Amino acid sequence: MEQYIIKGGNPLVGEVEIGGAKNAALAILAAAIMTDETVTIDNLPDVNDINVLLEAISGIGAEVDRIDRHTVRINGSNIENFDIEYDYIKKIRASYYLLGALLGKYKRAEVALPGGCNIGSRPIDQHLKGFRALGAYVDIEHGKIIAEAERLIGKHIYFDVVSVGATINVMMAASMAEGLTILENVAKEPHVVDVANFLNSMGANIRGAGTDVIKIRGVSRLHKTDYSIIPDQIEAGTFMFAAAATRGDVTVMNVIPKHLEATIAKLVEIGCEVEEFDDAVRVVSKGDLHNTQVKTLPYPGFPTDMQPQIGVTLALCKGTSTITESIFENRFKYLSELARMGANVKVEGNAATIEGVDKFSGARVSAPDLRAGAALVIAGMAADGITIVDDIVYIQRGYERFEEKLRSLGAVIERVSTEREIQKFKLKVG
Ligand code: EPZ
Repeated sequence: MEQYIIKGGNPLVGEVEIGGAKNAALAILAAAIMTDETVTIDNLPDVNDINVLLEAISGIGAEVDRIDRHTVRINGSNIENFDIEYDYIKKIRASYYLLGALLGKYKRAEVALPGGCNIGSRPIDQHLKGFRALGAYVDIEHGKIIAEAERLIGKHIYFDVVSVGATINVMMAASMAEGLTILENVAKEPHVVDVANFLNSMGANIRGAGTDVIKIRGVSRLHKTDYSIIPDQIEAGTFMFAAAATRGDVTVMNVIPKHLEATIAKLVEIGCEVEEFDDAVRVVSKGDLHNTQVKTLPYPGFPTDMQPQIGVTLALCKGTSTITESIFENRFKYLSELARMGANVKVEGNAATIEGVDKFSGARVSAPDLRAGAALVIAGMAADGITIVDDIVYIQRGYERFEEKLRSLGAVIERVSTEREIQKFKLKVG
């Protein structure tokens, strides 16, 4: 199993290019099969989740042509199989976006039911509620979701829970239903807006994405498009908190500052200097950082995908901080790993109390999930001594060239997989 080995103590300094948004790209790749014409998508992040979904898409018969690491051409005209196998869903839950895409275009889809994952049970009842409201017969048989409809008819749908996945999945199906669909209590994340813009560039008629109400007038067919994915605000925020935690000075390039408002607000609250430019944000963390309170909320609130990253940073801030995780029920596992590096934390239910300490000491830790894994790398870079992070396969699902980008900012980090490589690193760094 590959690991990261890190020698902490270096402040991160410099500029880093941010890639395309993984969570926008996953939905957009699924939606690309909704036309029989060719779709070109660029600014794709070259990460494992994207590559697995492209395999699933070609697995049902679509033509997938990888132009380069960040560009793909897809043509869905030859799809003859509407059955997404379990091993794709097991690898990435977001394969379930093919449900909305296939149901919208072919009025049929069979997708393995995704299980829970490391951060919570993650039901998909709201997705199924939306499909049924549009007139689809939806049932679960032998671990598979079977969805089919004679016709999809637009409806007024009120989601019981604000869900990124359900908003996007039902929006996709409704884009090719008959008549008007109104979606209420929807997610407003930038990637929801990006998917709506992508579908509209294919001829869909979607209004209001990014607000509380989305109105969709269904169309009978969608056409080709060339589209570029928005920058990944979670990758950007991860580097911004890495700058804060290592007392560095980092500028994230190729971002949309508006998407980072909640993150910027918290960095300023704890004492960082933040400078915004048109498509870049600079974070400087010099003096002592101090505590704050955080509650994760749907956008534009503080993102749950940034919770581990701010948690690690707060563990090195003076004073007592609290984090309330209101989106997922099991997203504090990284804190017990952090305690092994010297953090002073206490978790009760969905609330964590963090007493700032002066420093972490390097240790061997294990990444419990994608964002927590990235946060533990941040902890290693801020720690005294050597840290080894196991199970980095999680991190590679969502961060392209993570260790390369960190090294370009002055981090002492390498990807290793044998004891010999670990010894070699320790000899090299002294
Ligand atoms: C997306 O997951 C992201 N994944 C997650 O990012 C992100 O944490 C999450 O949105 C919240 O922003 C992708 O976009 C691929 P939700 P999703 O449906 O859509 C409950 C990462 O690190 N819920 O908005 O699955 C659910 O249990 C990943 O990149 C229902 O109850 O999240 C959760 O408590 C991790 N019923 C809450 O809603 C449903 O039918 C929000 O989940 C759907 C969701």
